[in-house]
Amino acid sequence: MAKWQPLGEIGQIAAKPSDSPFKMTTHREYDTIRRVDHLDEAREGMSRICIIGAGYVGLVTGVCFADLGHNVICLDVDEAKIENLKRGIPPIYEPGLEEMLNRNLQAGRLRFTTSYPEALADAEFAFIAVGTPSGVDGEADLRYVRAVVEAIADTVDHPICIVNKSTVPVGTGDWVADVIRKRRAGRDLEFAVVSNPEFLREGSAINDFMNPDRIVLGSLDREAANQVAQLYLSLRCPIMITDLRTAEMIKYASNAFLATRISFINEIANICEELGADVQEVAAGMGYDKRIGRAFLDAGLGWGGSCFPKDVKALAHMAVLHGTHPQLLQAVMDINRNQRRRVVMRLRKELGTLNDRTIGILGLSFKPNTDDLREAPALEVIHLLQVEGAIIRAYDPAAMKEAARILHNVTLCETPYQVAEGADALVLCTEWNEFKSLDFERIKRAMRTPLIMDGRNLWDPKRLRALGFTYLGVGRGTG
Ligand SMILES: NC(=O)c1ccc[n+]([C@@H]2O[C@H](COP(=O)([O-])OP(=O)(O)OC[C@H]3O[C@@H](n4cnc5c(N)ncnc54)[C@H](O)[C@@H]3O)[C@@H](O)[C@H]2O)c1
Repeated sequence: MAKWQPLGEIGQIAAKPSDSPFKMTTHREYDTIRRVDHLDEAREGMSRICIIGAGYVGLVTGVCFADLGHNVICLDVDEAKIENLKRGIPPIYEPGLEEMLNRNLQAGRLRFTTSYPEALADAEFAFIAVGTPSGVDGEADLRYVRAVVEAIADTVDHPICIVNKSTVPVGTGDWVADVIRKRRAGRDLEFAVVSNPEFLREGSAINDFMNPDRIVLGSLDREAANQVAQLYLSLRCPIMITDLRTAEMIKYASNAFLATRISFINEIANICEELGADVQEVAAGMGYDKRIGRAFLDAGLGWGGSCFPKDVKALAHMAVLHGTHPQLLQAVMDINRNQRRRVVMRLRKELGTLNDRTIGILGLSFKPNTDDLREAPALEVIHLLQVEGAIIRAYDPAAMKEAARILHNVTLCETPYQVAEGADALVLCTEWNEFKSLDFERIKRAMRTPLIMDGRNLWDPKRLRALGFTYLGVGRGTG
């Protein structure tokens, strides 16, 4: 591993390009941009990996690396979480995770701790997987990353490769190196920084980790990037090695592009609604075109979750800070906010008023197969409805525990049928499989007014209308 050559001072990622301390030219001097389909010198045996932050990304990464035969220790500052994990109880709902967690705990390849010295004692790789939430101006808040990097600098005295899996602003890899250099204050440490952005999706995280479309690695230290590539070799997927900043940007650009596709089809859906076209068919017709494809063209209540909202915001923030005007990103965010408002507007139009009307919400998590409520569209819809005086009943197949913690004045129900009791309207916010084949006759009998707002275009409008419902979809003609 090459010794780190410092590039600039701490904490100046936000600086304008003209006064940036980081010399972008250094990146170009490295001949690192290439695609790796296999490495000539495959590393023998398992590696010692420390994962810092045992949340959605860290835990899935740790469990999967252990399953690939590596020796993994996961560290988190949340003691309760670590205690449960030691007993094989995952803190999140993620298909397949619990079984894989227990299998690798029993095999002795996976351990959990809250102690940095224990976690880093003989680690060859330290993966950072802590949160990078939105700061007050939309920037990515790096306080957790900084805490981890400082802890590494204070704890480690052997060569180590620091791999950043958290989604961080472009330039953070350089900053991480600077934080370490400053913190060590002359005490030598042989280390390298590699960016390894994560693309897994909640709800299919294990499968996404094990069958990735690609692995992206960025570093100024080619040898270090090669070593990280070795960890993934058995997945037999394309591995792209590039420079640090490019790798960091690939993550933001990917998320912003996917969010853009969703906002695009939502804008088309709103136009369809006025003109009497069906956006589902439009998306299908567009999707046959190989240049376009069908993925991420589902009209609905818009994107949410722990990544898209904060990442699009952070990218726009980076752009403004560096003197460019991110007009497309702003429009993408505006359209998304508007999708939630449209639901409320359409319900108000149907019901005359929302004051004292009972609205049932089906699905709370930001997407199916997860219990994650972060930035879930349902939460915003509930808030907007409550502002207008609506009474809310809700149900979600997985997120009820967290919902009970964060939702106020909402009656949480045990089944979709309970939600329908006395409701003036039902709003589908998350397209869980469980909602696909409901007994709509039973639902209609339970409701006060048979009004359905299908926020995910899950149901057949003809069938529901035939049963006597007023059906509102997203972009499904004027009917
Ligand atoms: N969730 C996703 O689907 C997803 C996908 C791709 C990338 N990412 C990115 O990965 C990063 C992590 O996201 P997440 O959803 O896993 O977050 P998370 O909030 O689920 O988990 C973060 C974990 O880090 C722990 N932590 C905080 N400070 C710590 C410290 N100093 N030392 C050790 N542990 C600490 C927290 O207790 C928490 O358990 C973010 O940057 C996110 O943008 C997330």
